[in-house]
Amino acid sequence: MPRLLLTAGPTREPIDAVRFIGNRSSGRMGLAIASAAADAGWSTTLLLGPGPEPPSGPINTIRFETTAQLGALLNAHWPDHDVLIMAAAVADERPTGGPLSGKQTRGAARTLALEPTPDLLESLAPMTRDDPYRIGFALESPDRMVERARKKLASKRLDAIVANPLDTMESDSVDARLILRTGEEIAAPAGIDKATFAAWLLQEITNQLSHRDGRKTITSG
Ligand code: CTP
Repeated sequence: MPRLLLTAGPTREPIDAVRFIGNRSSGRMGLAIASAAADAGWSTTLLLGPGPEPPSGPINTIRFETTAQLGALLNAHWPDHDVLIMAAAVADERPTGGPLSGKQTRGAARTLALEPTPDLLESLAPMTRDDPYRIGFALESPDRMVERARKKLASKRLDAIVANPLDTMESDSVDARLILRTGEEIAAPAGIDKATFAAWLLQEITNQLSHRDGRKTITSG
């Protein structure tokens, strides 16, 4: 069984002691994958952002708040895992120079300087390992969904990416496609719920890993 490292939920980038920048993310997709993985007997480490309750079952859950904390956890745990599924909604920007001190009072209009957060998936790409399998998620407007997901697959040097239309965010159902590094595109059954999608995704990953291992055996044998 592959050892799964999974991220879920949003990051929060503090502006001051009480305010933050973050994405709207319930973490439900990631939690569904965690439960499906536990049901399938995968050893699972879940890095979980603020908000959702940790799932029940045999899942090693570790909490994070910021992109920097999530990055440090990924660096620490990825070497002990075989598959990374990055379902976390990482904030794109954070206040330049870190949070302001205390609670800022309301006052006149002001400008907040922002810097981009590091791309965590991309930063894991150069780590040399025999069998790293990294999967990203892309939430996109439907008209450019596949095109943008393919760009991210290439720029983050992923093995696969799940392309989701934007309305998945508030919905109980999923209409996703899995796009592979080979260029192949696999559509999930339309309109399935997140738990069913999670089980489908794990099965597709299992298929991909066994194809790859089969190819390796043939090459080396
Ligand atoms: N991601 C990441 N580090 C970031 C931003 C995103 O690792 N700083 C990961 C997400 O967890 C997801 C994938 O990259 O698996 C795609 O995230 P997305 O927000 O769609 O893409 P971005 O690279 O942030 O590009 P943009 O926001 O411009 O669409």
